[in-house]
Amino acid sequence: MEAYQQLSRSIAGKTAIITGAASGMGRATAHLFASEGAHVAVTDLDQGKCDAVVQEIAAANYSGTAKAWALDVSKTEAIKSVVADIAATLGGIDILVNNAGFAIPADIAQDSYEDSWNPTLDVMLSAHQRMIRAALPHLKEADHPRIVNVASTEGLGGSPGNSPYVAAKHGVIGLTRGLAVDLGRDGITVNCICPGPIRTGITDAIPEEHKTIYAKRRVPLRRYAIPEEVAHMTLSCVLPSASFLTGAVIPVDGGLTIKNA
Ligand code: NAI
Repeated sequence: MEAYQQLSRSIAGKTAIITGAASGMGRATAHLFASEGAHVAVTDLDQGKCDAVVQEIAAANYSGTAKAWALDVSKTEAIKSVVADIAATLGGIDILVNNAGFAIPADIAQDSYEDSWNPTLDVMLSAHQRMIRAALPHLKEADHPRIVNVASTEGLGGSPGNSPYVAAKHGVIGLTRGLAVDLGRDGITVNCICPGPIRTGITDAIPEEHKTIYAKRRVPLRRYAIPEEVAHMTLSCVLPSASFLTGAVIPVDGGLTIKNA
């Protein structure tokens, strides 16, 4: 029984960076981690929106804490300085959640395709490796270092008019698997969540009626999820007890990827 007791199911006292944490799944993850006693760096484009999430977390009186940092993950130099500042302020980095993202539709027949391709690949793939490289020296010092990359069911399949996003999300899965191999020797686990349809900023503009039709046709659980349902899977991946889970690609999609039509 002793071995089971050593596999802690708590992240109390751990430090975590979450990108894109001012909204949607990032915000839900920040709340959940703080409610579990972690010290969370809430990072996103806009300082005021990060501050607002930090205030919500403070008002909730969780056992953990949160601090805000403005960080545009498309800016390599900003990543280096903000990650260093977070590590110095919080006393290290145990957990990194690469979550920031957006969706810009793209038609391959149009010149404007590049206007989607470049920022999409930059923010939703290149930024992941930049964040990981900046955090790596600190993760190597941690007791149970954990990385979670947020991909998508679009990393396991594809939908029309969305190919830069689909390419980036497939890339996130490849990056996760490759780095799980390379970082295993340092005891760092690297896993990947593939959310299905979730009610967040990204899906806000989809009319409710369309959401209902889509969910009934495609999702065995017949609904969109709320961001907290994904945050709980992210938490499961970063627990000290998730000690032999690495390179995993985990759909959190209500069964979407099971169905062919
Ligand atoms: P959201 O729009 O609610 O949150 C995304 C956050 O990322 C926003 O606060 C935004 O400001 C931030 N962000 C965008 N560009 C950034 C940049 N350059 N630097 C830093 N932050 C930036 O959307 P959601 O859905 O919570 O998105 C989180 C992740 O989940 C994204 O990677 C998205 O691709 C992924 N996802 C979302 C799904 C959904 O149905 N909502 C399904 C599958 C994956």
